[in-house]
Amino acid sequence: MNPTVAYTRDGAVALLRINNPPVNALSQAVIEGLSQGVQAFANDADAKALVIACAGRTFVAGGDITAFDAPDFSALPYNAVLARIEALDRPVVAALHGTALGGGMELALAAHYRIAHSRTQLGFPEVKLGLLPGSLGTQRLPRLIGTERALSMIADGQSISAAQALDWGLIDAVSGEESEAAGLKYAQSLLDSQAAVRPTSARSLPASDASQEQQAAQQAQRKGRFYPALSAIVEAVQAASLPFAQGEAIEARLFEALRASPQSRALRHLFFAQRQAARVPGLAQDLVLRSIQQVGVLGAGTMGRGIAINFLNVGLPVLLVEQSAQALEAAVSAIRQIYQANVAKGRLTATDLEQRMGLLSGAVHESALVNCDLVIEAVFEDMALKKQVCARLGAICKPSAIIATNTSTLDVDALAVATGRPQDVVGMHFFSPAHVMKLLEVVRGAQTDPAVIATVMQLARTIGKVAVVSGVCYGFIGNRMAEVYMREAEFLIMEGAAPSDVDAAVEDLGMAMGPCRMLDLAGIDVGAKTVIEYGKAGGLPPDASYRALVQKLFAQGQFGQKTGLGYYRYEGRQALPNPAVEVLAQELAQAHGIVRRKDISRGEITERLLYPLINEGARILAEGMAYRPGDIDVVWTAGYGFPDHVGGPIFMADEVGLPQIVQRMAHYAQTRGNAYGYWTVSPLLQSLAEQGRRLSDWKAPA
Ligand SMILES: NC(=O)c1ccc[n+]([C@@H]2O[C@H](COP(=O)([O-])OP(=O)(O)OC[C@H]3O[C@@H](n4cnc5c(N)ncnc54)[C@H](O)[C@@H]3O)[C@@H](O)[C@H]2O)c1
Repeated sequence: MNPTVAYTRDGAVALLRINNPPVNALSQAVIEGLSQGVQAFANDADAKALVIACAGRTFVAGGDITAFDAPDFSALPYNAVLARIEALDRPVVAALHGTALGGGMELALAAHYRIAHSRTQLGFPEVKLGLLPGSLGTQRLPRLIGTERALSMIADGQSISAAQALDWGLIDAVSGEESEAAGLKYAQSLLDSQAAVRPTSARSLPASDASQEQQAAQQAQRKGRFYPALSAIVEAVQAASLPFAQGEAIEARLFEALRASPQSRALRHLFFAQRQAARVPGLAQDLVLRSIQQVGVLGAGTMGRGIAINFLNVGLPVLLVEQSAQALEAAVSAIRQIYQANVAKGRLTATDLEQRMGLLSGAVHESALVNCDLVIEAVFEDMALKKQVCARLGAICKPSAIIATNTSTLDVDALAVATGRPQDVVGMHFFSPAHVMKLLEVVRGAQTDPAVIATVMQLARTIGKVAVVSGVCYGFIGNRMAEVYMREAEFLIMEGAAPSDVDAAVEDLGMAMGPCRMLDLAGIDVGAKTVIEYGKAGGLPPDASYRALVQKLFAQGQFGQKTGLGYYRYEGRQALPNPAVEVLAQELAQAHGIVRRKDISRGEITERLLYPLINEGARILAEGMAYRPGDIDVVWTAGYGFPDHVGGPIFMADEVGLPQIVQRMAHYAQTRGNAYGYWTVSPLLQSLAEQGRRLSDWKAPA
């Protein structure tokens, strides 16, 4: 028999046990094994009921996502196995534990009865990959729990608890016992009560209120514009009101269209890119990680506070160090306020709040950091200050401690040298708000101990971050690319585009926020200071108009949202035109000989914002600052609100076509001039375009 599925008997009850570690994912072998097992049961007249359960830590937790890329992929063989399970003439029980997801849920739905361990999570995450459950999840689920709940469950992609599933009638029983034993007992009880077979597909849809159903459909599609899966899910789930075979055909057609859609391909690309990003090439398997029991955060401003919350949330004690008792007090109360807001929203209990605050301590002198295993500095972005701070940390911190810097742009190697122990130093670049944003850039210095990198990557997982390793360069991966994006945003405004035109062009593609709104939120002062610092370090091009607008706004005290004036004028949260920007743009254009135009199109804005950014990404790859193309896509989607449905800037570049990008870069070099190399195509991009290859598939030479 197939090694992944075993058929055994326990008295009158037969058992099909799937054993495909680590998560019992559906594979070709599992599907074949199930098919053979069903046949064995069909032939075994003495067996009166069948239990389907899984070995290991979970019930089937999904399908093999790589299989979706195969040109001949078809959900139909699995559907056929499920149909045969459902058509069996004796009761079939699915016994769930762990996470029953996607194809696992569809297996459970094809059984006649379902019992779950009390800690089971049940869900359909397909939507996160731009898909719908393609093996009749959209047809069987509504027959059990009704259209509205099925819509919300499939369109949200979030899992529900066993208790919730029982309440909704998705499962028939919950047990604290080990799932297989519980399943066998449950099957015996069905036999004792002479329970009948109960095919889900033969059930009629529970009655529902039309207006509530419509509301659920609207809710499911609220993010709809860029996500065709959502409207397809609504259509498929609504088709459950039709005879089963008709619904099945509709689901199959919609699934196939989604599988081939650019959005789903992009989301699948990101799914794999995120997993890859967690792997650091060249790290020995047997590295001994450093133990992190106590975290110190030096500088508790905007970033330090958010950083601290990450660790408190997972039960790690944090010591905050500030310059004065007053500053410390302000930070502690700001953290409490953030937690209180979560309590008010019902996301946290008052007990959790106190527990987390109980892990927080403070000091006004760096010497208090002596017992910390990890110290993250988040003081002002000023090289001289950071070097002094790092030198002191190098002397104070215990020998096994990791010293991390949250700098956005400064040279991590220079800071590492300043500590006198560069092997212990790493960049941990959090994004604002640090307790919310998923991305963590882990900056690997020239001398960083591999164990430090491995420890920080592990810690990132613990605090729920998506970590990407970057080499040391100005702005690392994300901000280095953002720099050219901001540069073009400013030039476009100086040439005559309004900030709202610039933002709208990329927001229309699905970018969470255009560059002007983003800088207003982050702070024009923060942005201007990095430009000024970079200038001091000799990094800027010899172009007097380079990011001149942001520096002027800064000089005028227009810091963005925090002062109510920046690229926009703010009334509450509403962003209105700031007339001063237009005046400044005209003055700067005149001062720097920039021609003002009225004919700046959406297309030009999009190309000028995104193509240099992609080009910079190619340079980052060629220089080895990012390990792989997918890492760049993860940085931009997890940290900068780049639309996931286009897969990130690199994946998008391939979809647009590299030759097209190269050609448009040449066009702008000609029309805008290229005195400072702004439109010089990276040799890597150029050569891949010439060879007709994709940037996403590029691998660094070994
Ligand atoms: N704000 C952002 O969006 C953002 C994003 C990523 C990274 N960063 C980086 O994080 C760092 C901090 O930025 P921020 O926005 O939180 O700045 P901030 O001005 O809000 O906070 C800095 C804090 O450091 C404290 N501080 C300064 N010197 C100190 C010292 N010697 N000892 C103890 N405390 C000291 C200050 O009192 C202040 O509270 C910078 O390196 C910045 O580039 C900022």
